[in-house]
Amino acid sequence: MTDDGYFGAEVAATYDTADGMFAPEVVTPAVDLLARLAGSGRALELAIGTGRIALPLAARGIEVHGIELSRSMVDQLRRKPGGAVIPVAIGDMATARLEESFSLVYLVFNTIMNLTTQEAQVACFRNAAAHLVPGGVFVIETMVPALRQLPPGQTFVPFRGDATGFGIDEYDVVRQGLISHHIDLVGGGEARYSSGPFRYVWPSELDLMAQLAGMRLRDRWGGWREEPFTAESPSHVSVWVRPSD
Ligand SMILES: C[S@@+](CC[C@H](N)C(=O)[O-])C[C@H]1O[C@@H](n2cnc3c(N)ncnc32)[C@H](O)[C@@H]1O
Repeated sequence: MTDDGYFGAEVAATYDTADGMFAPEVVTPAVDLLARLAGSGRALELAIGTGRIALPLAARGIEVHGIELSRSMVDQLRRKPGGAVIPVAIGDMATARLEESFSLVYLVFNTIMNLTTQEAQVACFRNAAAHLVPGGVFVIETMVPALRQLPPGQTFVPFRGDATGFGIDEYDVVRQGLISHHIDLVGGGEARYSSGPFRYVWPSELDLMAQLAGMRLRDRWGGWREEPFTAESPSHVSVWVRPSD
């Protein structure tokens, strides 16, 4: 691992080709909802990456700032139209503090799980709350841990398999850990393996982290189109509010 964490120059260079996450049908509903939640205020994206969400959100006229660990990811952001003017602080989203306040702080694409301890995830909630104006909201999009798919003795859950490659999550239910294994078929018969460590986290545990940070749950949906969150939802979009003083 480099100073860029698991998102070094090689990963950053191909990040925007990943798994359809840049498709308009994925990005647009997220940007629609985030724009509505930001209202006339400013937005802060924790782990802004290459600007998959931040750039279209900024294109809606919202002032978007970012915090990001990986300089390589930010280098990619800077190369894109509109990417040069987004203020980004290089740092850890659990601790990096901007001396500014926002009406919306958001953290998408399962990235709360990149913080691999409960302590760091709690610190991230506290940091998000510290960046919110009273009445502002913190939004997380993340998966629901797929433990219901694990038969006794099994630790692997496949989540992707097509002509572009395979993905398998490996669960450690004792430590609440998850290793995501990716095998990408990059052409010419070549396969590239990558993996990264995560800490999976339950919706109820996130609510407790929000409570520790002085926030309370306002909404939980099954997706960006405000679908109902049900027992079968594979992921959720949750909104916590920092109460007005
Ligand atoms: C899956 S990408 C998501 C990027 C972007 N938010 C998106 O939706 O495309 C995860 C990002 O989190 C960043 N990251 C991981 N741990 C971080 C941390 N502790 N603080 C800030 N950024 C972090 C990585 O460098 C990477 O850019």
